Amino acid sequence: LVEVRELYRNKEEYIGKRITVGGWIRSVRDSKSFGFIVLHDGTCFETLQVVYHDNLNNFAEISKLNVGSSIIVTGQLVETPQAKQPFEIQAEEVIIEGYSSPDYPLQKKKHSLEFLRTITHLRPRTNTFQAVFRVRSLLSYAIHKFFQERGFVYVHTPIITGSDCEGAGEMFRVTTLDLDNLPLTEDGKVDNSQDFFGKPTNLTVSGQLNGETYALAFKKIYTFGPTFRAENSNTTRHAAEFWMIEPEVAFADLNDNMRLAEDMLKYIINYVLENAPKEMEFFNQFIDNGLLDRLNNVVNSEFAHVTYTDAIEILKKNNDNFDYKVFWGCDLQTEHERYLTEQVFKKPVFVTDYPKDIKAFYMKLNEDNKTVAAMDLLVPGIGEIIGGSQREDDYEKLLKRMDEMGLSREDYEFYLDLRKFGSVRHSGFGLGFERCVMYLTGMSNIRDVIPFPRTVNHCEL
Ligand code: 4AD
Ligand code: MG
Repeated sequence: LVEVRELYRNKEEYIGKRITVGGWIRSVRDSKSFGFIVLHDGTCFETLQVVYHDNLNNFAEISKLNVGSSIIVTGQLVETPQAKQPFEIQAEEVIIEGYSSPDYPLQKKKHSLEFLRTITHLRPRTNTFQAVFRVRSLLSYAIHKFFQERGFVYVHTPIITGSDCEGAGEMFRVTTLDLDNLPLTEDGKVDNSQDFFGKPTNLTVSGQLNGETYALAFKKIYTFGPTFRAENSNTTRHAAEFWMIEPEVAFADLNDNMRLAEDMLKYIINYVLENAPKEMEFFNQFIDNGLLDRLNNVVNSEFAHVTYTDAIEILKKNNDNFDYKVFWGCDLQTEHERYLTEQVFKKPVFVTDYPKDIKAFYMKLNEDNKTVAAMDLLVPGIGEIIGGSQREDDYEKLLKRMDEMGLSREDYEFYLDLRKFGSVRHSGFGLGFERCVMYLTGMSNIRDVIPFPRTVNHCEL
């Protein structure tokens, strides 16, 4: 079989030749003595038009095929200078591989994204999801390419862990205990020593702490894997299972960290613009007008920077219009993040130096003793897409912070060791992969950029 992708790439080689292609029917139009089939084979965004005539012995059968049927067509590829598409195949033989029944949910009309969410197993066959998941795939490749070209080592951090990196307690427990018949200790508590690992464990919320151990051995590492959060937030940008990219660099401070994040984003945007032009045009036309202009601006200008403290001053002036009123010390809500990046800066903006009390224990304390060397990158349309920081590299300060926050020294001994044996300033960040896909495609719901979304009350397939 020749792939349709190949036909579009090397048109000259195939025009006038007899070829065989296989694919799924997007539509059939027939008149008395001939008909047209729009065929999609999944290898590229484009479709192939098939023309067939009543000289085929199964002409009547072909004309009755439902959308979604799979066929293998042999015939000559001919140029069609008058038509929208550059060429078509004139069928000499059409083999029907698999019939699609008339109740096929995808018909030749526009389906709502809500409806398509109810058929996650079939939605990848639509134009929108062809574009989304091709771009998602290219983006993962671009991310690896970016870090590999710079000499970063890809580290596979564990999925099951005993620690809570973010300290937010939003973890899914992993256990082999019989929940209907929990073993108890003498004082009536659950006896975790009988669990598989002999202690409570959970799905990772972030690979960072493990990543840091490798950064202090390889200097530059990154992770790229699934992470899990049992956050009870039913929003369009939160998923219970999402993928995260977490680079970690030794001898790097917060500014180096922000530069890396900016370089990475620009690199992957360029990569997708170059390698998925058809898909990106589709998003620009049907999902988010202005997307291409916006992304082109992003790659050609510097990101903005503002401290948390200055950001609060800016936001206070607009407090009347916020549901949640800001004050120094509050965590920024999506409405604030979007206001800053959409109304004030009108481009991606790094917010730095957050109050220590709203950030994780591992962030480096600034000299004011109130804020930490944190950075969040906010982008228009989404809000926070990256969260990162310079890490506390001072043994005593880290210990003090852990005690303040009630973290057990035992659990984090490995982490403290890094500050004991050749500690060095180091920084890293986490890019939420789905939010990144949303940003680059203009898709507005996280459920539509991950193949099988897991959100509160939803875990189908
Ligand atoms: O800001 P977060 O919680 O940072 C960390 O996990 C750090 N350990 C990262 C690091 O410094 N290595 O999460 C990082 C990013 C967020 O900016 C967001 O894009 C994404 O992960 N994220 C989510 N994406 C989808 N659904 C959720 N529930 C998410 N929670 C965080
Ligand atoms: Mg964050």
